[in-house]
Parts: sequence; structure tokens; C-alpha cells
Amino acid sequence: MRTVYVNGNYLPENEASVSIFDRGFLMADGVYEVTSVLDGKLIDFDGHAVRLERSLHELDMRAPVSKEDLLAIHRELVKVNGIVEGLVYLQITRGSDGDRDFIFPSPDTVPTIVLFTQNKPGLADNPAARKGAKIISIEDIRWGRRDIKTVQLLYPSMGKMMAKKAGADDAWLVEDGFVTEGTSNNAYIVKGNKIITRGLSNDILHGITRAAVLRLAREAQMEVEERNFTIEEAKAADEAFTTSASAFVMPVVEIDGVSLSGGTPGRIATRLREIYLDESRKAAV
Ligand code: PDD
Repeated sequence: MRTVYVNGNYLPENEASVSIFDRGFLMADGVYEVTSVLDGKLIDFDGHAVRLERSLHELDMRAPVSKEDLLAIHRELVKVNGIVEGLVYLQITRGSDGDRDFIFPSPDTVPTIVLFTQNKPGLADNPAARKGAKIISIEDIRWGRRDIKTVQLLYPSMGKMMAKKAGADDAWLVEDGFVTEGTSNNAYIVKGNKIITRGLSNDILHGITRAAVLRLAREAQMEVEERNFTIEEAKAADEAFTTSASAFVMPVVEIDGVSLSGGTPGRIATRLREIYLDESRKAAV
């Protein structure tokens, strides 16, 4: 049984609870982060902590703990749960003042903070990354502030279910013909050695893995272009891949039934996965 963290306490998972009036539960009024763990250490903790602060700020929510305390809680959970490879999930909601109301409760309402670990042995040496992912495209009907990492994940869940029903692994979201991002990852194509990914705006989540991968790609003298690309351009690309904290760099080998890079992971995606894993292990805390 896992030890989890709830509002200042470390508890067995079956003893942890939050109010039925919690605004995270009633209104999806909360934000989250997922940080990966390799070799028992946190990958890019700083990036996740900075994005969390930004998400909270954009929603006029206050942080219930300092960045230092947050790091200490992450490390304690990794330690007590014996996580060598896995994930730490963190969620902060606006809390509850004991009833349901659309209006935000008073600013001194105590936010709810929950953290738990997910043990995932083999996260780095993932067989799925050697095979590559099959993607379908679906319309992006999410709200307009996708840069805020909120817990409103119903449409991404539905997208994953549509992919599963279609015999695919995941879905890319398309708006006005252009790919925004994946259901839970950022999306990239490769054309003639050039890595192409949508630029940052309110339309997509500013991926922490995205920032690291683009920096590493540029350091390795790879060409990067941040611009919109259509789903048609993606189907005609030499390679494609996604990035996220939970899957690192994941090669894409099929989009809407069209095979890419001969149906096997592309050279650049494979290389970026190696570089990313090596460099983030070195920088882990
Ligand atoms: N998802 N875009 C969306 C919509 C996401 O949900 C995520 C992360 C990303 C990639 O961001 P990062 O590199 O910071 O993980 C992009 C997490 C992993 C999740 O929901 O489990």
C-alpha cells in the first residue's frame, strides 16, 4: 500500500480523503503536475514547480506550500514508497468552504494539496518506445486556456478512448486543420532533418519535456522550427513524435492509418529520446 500526502499529512492511501465539497471534485477547479522519477530522482523538478506557480497565478489561487517544501514532499514520497522509476502526481485545488457555489470562496480558503506516487518499473526502457505509437486525429474542442495545467481532463480521456476503440495508442488534436498537441503530450514532425512543433501560446500546454528536448536538439545542432503544421503535413512527414513527462520522447509511426518512417521509430526521434534520457538523468535531483 502506498503512502500519500494530503494537506500536510503522510497517510496510507486508504486513509487519505478530501471533502465532497472540494472545488476540484465539483468544478474541476484545480491544477496538477506530473514529475517523472528515474534512478530514484526527480526529473526537471524546477520546471514543473515554475509551471505550477504559473498555473496557480493564472487562476488566482495561492500555493499552499513553498517550492522547497514541495521538493521535500516529492522526495519523501519517492523514498518511503521505494520508487526507482515512476511518477509523482501533484494536485492543488481551490479547496472548499463547505458548500457548492460558482463564485470562488474567500481567498483565505485553504487550498487542497494531494500528492501520490505511481511505481512504473521500465519507464525509461519502455518497449512501447521501441515500437512507436499509432495516432488518430480528432477535433480539438477543449477550452481556450490549455496553457494552464488544469484537472479538466474529460476530453483528453475521451480522446484516448476514441484512439483505443480505433486500435490506436493516442490521439492528436486538430484545430482549424492545424495540430495543437496530443491528448497528454506535445506533438512534433520531422521534415528533412528539421524538427517542427507548434509555438507556445494559450492553445497548448507549455511542456516541460518540450522545453528540454528543444534545448537539447539545438545544442546537438539539430534544426528546430516552432510553427503550426497541419495534420496533412504530419501524414507526409519523414518522422513524428511526442514528448511528455510520463513518456519522455515517444516516436509516432502511424497517423490516421498512414505509416511514417517505414512504420518504425524514426532516427531523429530515437536519438532525441536517448539524449533526453541521458541528460535528464544527469540533471535529476
Ligand atoms: N501530460 N500537453 C498536454 C495536454 C499534457 O497533458 C501534457 C502532460 C503535455 C506535456 O507536458 P510535460 O512535458 O510537461 O509533461 C502536453 C501529463 C504527463 C499527464 O497528464 O499525465
